[in-house]
Amino acid sequence: MKGRVLNSIAILVSLVILAVGRASTSDLPALKDVFKDYFLIGGALNRNLVMGRDPNAAQIAIKHYNTATPENDMKWQLIHPEPDRYNWGPADTFVEFCQKHNMVPIGHTLVWHAQTPRWVFQDSNGGPATRDVLLARMKDHITTVVGHYKGRVKGWDVVNEALNDNGTLRNSPWLRIIGEGSPEKQYDFIEYAFRWAHEADPDAELYYNDYNLDTSKAKCDGAVAIVKYLKSKGVRIDGVGIQLHAGLTYPSVETLEYAITNLAATGVKVMVTELDIRTQTRGYRGADISMVSREGTADPNAAAAETQKKLAEKYAEIFSVLLKHSKSITRVTFWGVYDATSWIGGSPLLFDRNYQPKEAFFAVIKTAQQAR
Ligand code: G3I
Repeated sequence: MKGRVLNSIAILVSLVILAVGRASTSDLPALKDVFKDYFLIGGALNRNLVMGRDPNAAQIAIKHYNTATPENDMKWQLIHPEPDRYNWGPADTFVEFCQKHNMVPIGHTLVWHAQTPRWVFQDSNGGPATRDVLLARMKDHITTVVGHYKGRVKGWDVVNEALNDNGTLRNSPWLRIIGEGSPEKQYDFIEYAFRWAHEADPDAELYYNDYNLDTSKAKCDGAVAIVKYLKSKGVRIDGVGIQLHAGLTYPSVETLEYAITNLAATGVKVMVTELDIRTQTRGYRGADISMVSREGTADPNAAAAETQKKLAEKYAEIFSVLLKHSKSITRVTFWGVYDATSWIGGSPLLFDRNYQPKEAFFAVIKTAQQAR
């Protein structure tokens, strides 16, 4: 009997704690309001969220974000899987979700080496396509996709991840086939992509987007060279996206500031486009999902108080730098909404697996209060 009473009390106490927790969540300040004088705040939204299959995640996004990027559904493989077939449904739903909830929609991404179907780079015998064929396919894709969303998508990640960490251009099929091994043609695929995106929607902003710009000065210099090249040709480029897939110990304040100031010095807008902080302390540091191992993403220490404290400190450091340079930064987008659906596993975002704000959330809010 005594046991049953104690049990009931325990259940009651848990329910009250849960209710109080929920109530305090709805009283949270909204990130987009807290940072409204500095930059837009957004997140990558996945298909489940925009389709209504993850309503708790949708509530977080609606409350905190005033800009959003589709995590996957505008990538070539998903939106244009076969030569004559475009799959508009999920990406249209993303754009409608943004319109309904007053979020500025960003298009991601037009030209990338990953998540692009094999046929794009091949001829009918499975050999490499010619330069002219690949350029024609790129033009068709960009014209059709950017044209479809003309006037509805604010800006496009036109070219994604074209650089190696040492600042040279990545040896992708885009470079190999269109560049034809000639230094004079190395930037051609980037130049054509930006030209055709501009033709398809003259009012859309156009961005170059990459990871490790915040950790590798050489890679950042490579991005600066791309911007300067495009500007020297009179081609429109509005911004550079620093993805900012960070870790508990990187980037340093110095290399992050190097990236922001050097990119801004070229006259373009700087954006943080894919912010998260991996809690795994070992292994691969880049943003290529094929390099992320399942064991690595399990991360048994992610929820530990010590890890969460380090996470909060790193987020606070990063946001302090972003606020210091807020005149150059127009947007800060998290790569996801809450930990359970992050591409990287572990505990990299501001909301935990139960949709609750973490210590890192409050640390980020505090940086804005301290900046006033
Ligand atoms: O849609 C299929 C599903 O049908 C299938 O059952 C399932 C089985 O694995 O795979 C699903 O596709 C996955 C897709 O995400 C949607 O969930 C792919 O395998 C998976 O590779 C893909 O990962 C995405 C990754 O880009 C691909 O490179 C991540 O969600 C996405 O967060 C990540 O985002 C990239 C940015 O676009 C560019 N910068 C780096 C960033 C992190 O890698």
